[in-house]
Amino acid sequence: MVKSIVLNVLSLFTLVFISLAKNVTDIKDCPALSRRTPSISVNDLRVDDIKVIGALGDSVTAGFGIMGFDKNAPVFIASQKSKLEYRGLSYSIGGDRGAGTMSNFINHFQPEVFGASIGTRLAGICTDKPRIDVLNGALSGAIAMNLDGELDYLISTMKSTKHINFENDWKMINIQIGSNDMCGACNTSYMNQVTPEKYGKYVDSVVDRIHSSIPKVIVNLISSFDLSQVFELSAANSQYCAARKDGTGDAGCSCAVNSEGLNKMKEFSKGYDQKLLEIYKKYQSNKSNSFAVAYQHCNFEFSKFSMEFFSTLDCFHPSLKGHTWLSKAFWNQLFLPQSQKPNHLLFNTEETIYCPNDSDRININ
Ligand SMILES: *[C@@H]1O[C@H](CO)[C@@H](O)[C@H](O)[C@H]1NC(C)=O
Ligand SMILES: *[C@@H]1O[C@H](CO)[C@@H](O)[C@H](O)[C@H]1NC(C)=O
Ligand SMILES: *[C@@H]1O[C@H](CO)[C@@H](O)[C@H](O)[C@H]1NC(C)=O
Ligand SMILES: *[C@@H]1O[C@H](CO)[C@@H](O)[C@H](O)[C@H]1NC(C)=O
Repeated sequence: MVKSIVLNVLSLFTLVFISLAKNVTDIKDCPALSRRTPSISVNDLRVDDIKVIGALGDSVTAGFGIMGFDKNAPVFIASQKSKLEYRGLSYSIGGDRGAGTMSNFINHFQPEVFGASIGTRLAGICTDKPRIDVLNGALSGAIAMNLDGELDYLISTMKSTKHINFENDWKMINIQIGSNDMCGACNTSYMNQVTPEKYGKYVDSVVDRIHSSIPKVIVNLISSFDLSQVFELSAANSQYCAARKDGTGDAGCSCAVNSEGLNKMKEFSKGYDQKLLEIYKKYQSNKSNSFAVAYQHCNFEFSKFSMEFFSTLDCFHPSLKGHTWLSKAFWNQLFLPQSQKPNHLLFNTEETIYCPNDSDRININ
């Protein structure tokens, strides 16, 4: 008798505990959502409504440097591997099995989601884009000015892919850009194209074009990283960053040469985020049922991050652990209203993943 009461209390406790345990370390442990007819409005969107995922961006989204420098391989092999983009591991749209990526998290709730990039390829020209990049339109080296060309690829691929119902499928497009822009603030050959004003104009026009040419879509604007902080960090960790070949430690970043340049990067990065916020607000005041813009900010204090966040290739791009953390940090924010998104985030290898339930929506407010 007493034993069965104890058991009942125990199982009740387990039940309550399970229904409260909404943060997991492996997406596989998130309970499935109940089936429903996909939302008719972007204001009522659940993650399992998303059938198509796309991305625009630069080498971070392309997955450059994720596996670091392979110091165990012969020099020739290691230097070839150093040119690879690990598209299947990209935090926002990678589709490699088991990778911690936003697209794989969506896939857990909506196995039919299409668009994730797979595997690796060399940075630069690719003859096999539709199979490897799929709907990852990001290009290494891109600045905001190049997003329009990336969008050409995205739209034509979406329209020509038979798995996609262009008119009816809900789509999510993750956009993150700005690392090369802020570095270019000190490069006379394109510094006038990367001011916060120009950045804002280019991103705004690409969002407008998505609005007018892609039906049923949510644009997820992800803030730029203030990379002015990383050079001091890599200088202080010369052993971890030993593979950097250029000798200057600037990872090809024109502004990284002096404190004046670094201050300019910081100022531009802040300016870019202000512009992204303005674009988000513009669409807040002009809502429709088939288009919305979400904004995920980050304000990373890189100076407090452990080096594991960075690739050993250049101590500039995120590592695999870095990408995995980014995917969780931005996924967890998807369900929070703007006012509740965290102001500061710290890299944490033990970060958990929020499991949305039937009443959670992709929050665009
Ligand atoms: C889950 O994680 C979020 C942060 O992402 C935190 O605010 C919340 O309290 C956590 N919930 C549980 C049940 O641990
Ligand atoms: C400036 O940018 C150009 C074009 O991207 C590049 O070739 C050059 O090396 C850069 N200059 C510096 C000083 O970083
Ligand atoms: C609001 O959106 C409509 C199309 O949905 C567009 O015609 C109009 O110009 C927009 N207004 C503003 C203020 O952006
Ligand atoms: C879903 O989660 C939210 C936030 O954690 C909670 O407020 C709500 O009650 C949950 N709804 C259901 C149906 O479990």
